[in-house]
Amino acid sequence: MDKFELKVLQLVGIAIVVMIFGVLVSTDKSNVPECVPYGDVYKEAKVVELDSNLYQIFYVASMWNFEPYDVFIPVGSEVDIYLTSKDVVHGLLIADKNVNLMATYGAVNKTTVKFDKPGIYDVVCHEYCGSSHHAMKAQIVVN
Ligand code: CUA
Repeated sequence: MDKFELKVLQLVGIAIVVMIFGVLVSTDKSNVPECVPYGDVYKEAKVVELDSNLYQIFYVASMWNFEPYDVFIPVGSEVDIYLTSKDVVHGLLIADKNVNLMATYGAVNKTTVKFDKPGIYDVVCHEYCGSSHHAMKAQIVVN
């Protein structure tokens, strides 16, 4: 291998390292849903108040509704959202929030979202799940 080839290989190597580093640094990991292990599947929908501004919502999706239907929380709350399904695959999207989860039987998805502005946030199913898919919704009331 001559010196020129060696220099080219070194430059390519450095370029690859810089590129991988750039991709890792620039990836936004702030709102990536987590998968909770299979053993931790819950059956009952509930809302848990951990603190005055810290809540957990355990959603159960089924044809064709979400439980709980409406949740009331104060402005500024941080909410852990858990989601599972009793039957087919459903979706959960919160309007005006960057939340997009999939509800799957036997598994739990989780994300965390903060509600800084008062309002009624619609929660809708965005995965076709049968004849009343369009009517499958819930709401989070922040005031
Ligand atoms: Cu549930 Cu569409």
